[in-house]
Amino acid sequence: MAVSSPGRVLLTGASGKLGSYLLRELCSQDKSVVAWSTRSDVELFGCRCRRVDVRQPDDVVAAYREASPDVVIHTAALSGVGDCYRDPTRARQTNTIATRLLADLAARHEARFVYTSTDLVFDGKKAWYVETDCLTPLSVYGSTKAAAERSVLHYPRHLVLRVALLFGPSLNDRVSFFDQQVQAVESGESCVLFEDEWRTPLSFQTAARAILTVADSEVSGLLHLGGPERMSRLEMGQRMARAMGKSDASCKAAKREDVASGEPRPRDTSLCGDRWARLFPDFHRPTYEEELAEMRVGQAWQ
Ligand SMILES: NC(=O)c1ccc[n+]([C@@H]2O[C@H](COP(=O)([O-])OP(=O)(O)OC[C@H]3O[C@@H](n4cnc5c(N)ncnc54)[C@H](OP(=O)(O)O)[C@@H]3O)[C@@H](O)[C@H]2O)c1
Repeated sequence: MAVSSPGRVLLTGASGKLGSYLLRELCSQDKSVVAWSTRSDVELFGCRCRRVDVRQPDDVVAAYREASPDVVIHTAALSGVGDCYRDPTRARQTNTIATRLLADLAARHEARFVYTSTDLVFDGKKAWYVETDCLTPLSVYGSTKAAAERSVLHYPRHLVLRVALLFGPSLNDRVSFFDQQVQAVESGESCVLFEDEWRTPLSFQTAARAILTVADSEVSGLLHLGGPERMSRLEMGQRMARAMGKSDASCKAAKREDVASGEPRPRDTSLCGDRWARLFPDFHRPTYEEELAEMRVGQAWQ
């Protein structure tokens, strides 16, 4: 795989769950980074984020010119499925329109463009989705990301990376679902998890490393990035409890039909990683237990 040598990286969504892992990794590699966030004056890992609301096109154009990046890693999004359902206009502005503008700017200025899309562009009626499968989103979130993908793929040298469900401790000041689950397992509280919803989960840390690997390459088009194992959310909770040396009895099974939600939830959006494995045979995608073991090292789990 031919590898380019990127200079300055523009990272959008740098204060988000995935963005903060990416920023930490970029800073540890001493890369030249321009980090955008919606928050003013946030400093993360020694890098001061610039406040840019991607829904403001004039601000985006001005800040892009100032950044003058060689590579753009675009993770900024309205990422909550419920938030998008409640405010579809904002979802479209943030996820679709802003992505189109950034993809256009990167193409015009000959920068590499890596866009983080989602497994929720699929309806989950199949399993082990491949890159060529048709887009069938069920939610506003999935639809806005699918529309964004089309704008990015308009440029043959841009890359859409469809990322599976991510997990891991939060590096920013917001408590993640994973943090809550760890807390629940530690305190023996019961935790209700779907037994009929399957994903191919991957840690934020591995995803960040993978995204930087692919950003350094010349791979373009569509690429799926998920963990090597397909598992239900219930199984994720049970295996986490056991990895922490606790009983998995606190993980209670629920079915999707038991829980009211505004939009249908996709059943199985597991992503096939064959293209990834062919392109990056040396990149190890750890098993769930390997991921959990790596997180425990040096963490406050015991
Ligand atoms: N987490 C997952 O399991 C997962 C799975 C598949 C794909 N993805 C994709 O990965 C990317 C990152 O997801 P995440 O989980 O890290 O989400 P997140 O924690 O919600 O982070 C989203 C980031 O986008 C920023 N943002 C939101 N609205 C913005 C606006 N109008 N202008 C500028 N920035 C804005 C947020 O800024 P503030 O921090 O300032 O609010 C935040 O930094 C998204 O594209 C998501 O679709 C995530």
